[in-house]
Amino acid sequence: MTTILIDQDLCTRCGICSNACTMGLIDPADENTLPKIPDAKAGMCIHCGHCEVFCPSQALLLNDRPDEKLHLPAGAGTIAPDAMGYYLRKRRSVRRFKKDPVPKEKILELLDIARYAASGGNGQPVKWIVVHDPERVKKIAGLTIEWMKTLVNSTHPMSGYVPMLIKPFEAGYDVICRGAPHLLFAHIPEGNPIAQTDAIIALTHFDIAAPAFGVGTCWAGFVAMATMSYEPLPKELGIPAGRKTAYAMMFGHPQYKIYGIPRRKPLDVTWQ
Ligand SMILES: Cc1cc2nc3c(=O)[nH]c(=O)nc-3n(C[C@H](O)[C@H](O)[C@H](O)COP(=O)(O)O)c2cc1C
Repeated sequence: MTTILIDQDLCTRCGICSNACTMGLIDPADENTLPKIPDAKAGMCIHCGHCEVFCPSQALLLNDRPDEKLHLPAGAGTIAPDAMGYYLRKRRSVRRFKKDPVPKEKILELLDIARYAASGGNGQPVKWIVVHDPERVKKIAGLTIEWMKTLVNSTHPMSGYVPMLIKPFEAGYDVICRGAPHLLFAHIPEGNPIAQTDAIIALTHFDIAAPAFGVGTCWAGFVAMATMSYEPLPKELGIPAGRKTAYAMMFGHPQYKIYGIPRRKPLDVTWQ
């Protein structure tokens, strides 16, 4: 059962855990008692950990895998606004990759960061498939082209466009996966109305974190569309029953460095 463990020597009875609780489950301390989740409310805890991380005296531990509690070193994770502005503005889709693979340990470090992405009700529904073998990436690109061939002369909105991709692909130019050594797939439970959004947020964390690790990414829209609608692809990937592909991303070590920031549409904001 979910409960909070309080170090009574450290607890100052400040009430922040009670105020921070997403679900309003924690009865604040009074002179004689420590903060507490009443048994009747324990089942409503969403394990967001806010009670724990907002406790200024670090007196509180949620009994959810307490051994895995991470220490936050003082000042860690603080980024100056201009550094953040440049970091995000210089993120670009990478379409030219070096051949050398990204080590699995580095990919796991990035996916570990993506675990901390927001998810509706802290549901964390996203699971990952990493296609690490470049030969398998090529096979998936080929299957995506097979899907595109089924669209030619159909009523699909891409029917007129796909021949422009099929032709260069068959001439040896990988317009689908851009020669990326790896592909990342986020998959989610079917029938969960918020999981698609959760997956895009988690993939965005991967996308945003990647350049700091020397990794370049590009959203793989064609592969994602094909995987969502062409049965041989989820079969090839082994998407488990009851789950579906939410989206895909190509990644690898970028071949080129970035020296500038491109222009974008001006802001369009309505204040109310
Ligand atoms: C949902 C989505 C799908 C995309 N699919 C592809 C794709 O299949 N192939 C590709 O080369 N780029 C793809 N892109 C990259 C966009 O073309 C790119 O984000 C856009 O041109 C802006 O460039 P930037 O990301 O460098 O700012 C995709 C981007 C998004 C957000």
